[in-house]
Amino acid sequence: MRLAAAELIESREILPGQWIQAYHAPELANGSRAGQFVHVRPGDYSGLVLRRPFSLNTADAVTGVVTIHFRVIGRGTDWFTHLRPGDRIDMLGPLGRPFEVDPRSRHLLLVAGGLGMAGVRMLADEAIRDGRQVTLLFGAASAREVYPSTLLPDEVEYVVATDDGSLGHHGFVTDLVPEYEAWADQAFACGPWPMLAALARLAEGRRGRLGVAKLGRKRGGGKADPPGSPAARRKAFLQVSMEQNMGCAVGACLGCVVQTTGGTPQRVCREGPVFAAEELAWEAAW
Ligand SMILES: Cc1cc2nc3c(=O)[nH]c(=O)nc-3n(C[C@H](O)[C@H](O)[C@H](O)COP(=O)(O)OP(=O)(O)OC[C@H]3O[C@@H](n4cnc5c(N)ncnc54)[C@H](O)[C@@H]3O)c2cc1C
Ligand code: FES
Repeated sequence: MRLAAAELIESREILPGQWIQAYHAPELANGSRAGQFVHVRPGDYSGLVLRRPFSLNTADAVTGVVTIHFRVIGRGTDWFTHLRPGDRIDMLGPLGRPFEVDPRSRHLLLVAGGLGMAGVRMLADEAIRDGRQVTLLFGAASAREVYPSTLLPDEVEYVVATDDGSLGHHGFVTDLVPEYEAWADQAFACGPWPMLAALARLAEGRRGRLGVAKLGRKRGGGKADPPGSPAARRKAFLQVSMEQNMGCAVGACLGCVVQTTGGTPQRVCREGPVFAAEELAWEAAW
């Protein structure tokens, strides 16, 4: 974890109320992995005491540039839109645990709902760089909120669903998943909780439907991997990136806890934000 005085290079509104900002922060661009996040605040506080968490949307170790993609929902996110190139913010990161791709996985299915795109976007870059095939399913309320395909690597197959049918499939993005479940070696998702819960249900039934073995399991079972471990994520068909309201983002306040099937609460900021979907108790109230 490092603290950077990140300098704004570019800021643009890519969709109504949604911004992508590029910051020069070589300390963070180097060594960050898809699924991790940063915790940011104005360099001089400017009245914003609490930091705001944002997924690392992209990170380029060569140029030292990281990007964040956010929707304006309140005072903090609005404040960031008024920054100008050359302004600096205080950026802490990379925080949390990243997505883990099994070395044998060739076909990755990414599923994003709305701003969940920011949670999986960097994984597309990493996967393409490593020679994997990527299909990205994206769901939005309407065409007005569909992430522009021009902002994705050309190699990504991009499939869109809209709730009102104004672009792509008419319905939820989860409707598209069954078509890809035999093709995909692993799936990675970020978005609203109901979308993630629906995907977790689909993933649970997949092994039975397709008759496929669990990744990394030797015949006859073997020792189970500890919950929250990189190995547990790597062997999961579905990994999800969770968003919970955060206070400290360093594991101290317990404000971001989610419940696991084993009954051990996990902190989204430390043990997450990425979890193997099968580790989380989707029906539990949190
Ligand atoms: C791990 C993680 C990654 C995230 N990545 C993104 C991203 O890439 N793009 C994006 O648009 N949003 C992301 N969010 C949500 C984003 O942090 C909130 O939208 C933002 O903090 C709202 O700040 P605000 O001051 O504008 O809103 P306000 O509602 O005024 O916020 C007030 C307080 O509540 C906290 N808060 C409010 N909503 C959230 C929330 N959903 N999650 C966490 N804290 C919240 C803020 O940190 C702040 O302390 C992420 C959240 C988490 C936990
Ligand atoms: S936000 Fe404080 S423990 Fe996670």
